[in-house]
Amino acid sequence: MPGPVSNVVAIDGPAGAGKSTIGKALAAKLGLEYLDTGAMYRAVTFCAMQRGLNLADTALIGELARSVTLEVGARGVFVDGLDATAAIRTPEVTAAVSQVAANSEVRAEMRERQRAWAATRGGGVIEGRDIGSVVFPDAELKLYLTASPRTRAERRVAEAGGDVDEIERSIAARDHHDSSRSDSPLVMPDGSIVVDTTGMGIAAVLAYIEGLMTSERAEQG
Ligand code: CDP
Repeated sequence: MPGPVSNVVAIDGPAGAGKSTIGKALAAKLGLEYLDTGAMYRAVTFCAMQRGLNLADTALIGELARSVTLEVGARGVFVDGLDATAAIRTPEVTAAVSQVAANSEVRAEMRERQRAWAATRGGGVIEGRDIGSVVFPDAELKLYLTASPRTRAERRVAEAGGDVDEIERSIAARDHHDSSRSDSPLVMPDGSIVVDTTGMGIAAVLAYIEGLMTSERAEQG
């Protein structure tokens, strides 16, 4: 296994906590690239569903994860060269992704790809569910973003529409699945800074995190 990669900012937290928005803005400020690891799990899920594979067949889905070509970046999400940027965000994929993400063979492959991604770039801002806990336990900065379930559901409705009660229920089901799985569950990583973004706008969250980084740097002398 390669040694620790410096310059990694790990952002974890449940759905709708603001990880993507904050992660992208932070990456731009720090001059680092940004990786949405949830998009990788969504892409594997989308590909499996499109091929009509049984998601419960862990060996088969593991093999798919090892063989599929994934590109996740500013241009969008490409699965075996085809643009799947919108297709990975349908309610059907969203409802199925936690099952695929609980598959240890899938996780092992995605973890290696995430580490290789960062090693190639000399770091990055990386967001997901297990980034500070498992993928990059030595990250320079670990953030755990959260917000009340209602706030998170309201943010999803503002982005993509839908019924807020229904979305709150679906987010709660996914949070439960992601937090209770045995392999790399969603947890607050050791050494992470918890930021509850309930009632905070993007600018306020960013300013707060930048303040944290400045004071950490000052403490380190
Ligand atoms: O966009 P949203 O916050 O709704 O979710 P996402 O970041 O796209 O992640 C989708 C799903 O992928 C999560 O619900 C997890 O099941 C899984 N995931 C994971 O297991 N580990 C990660 N590092 C990132 C996502």
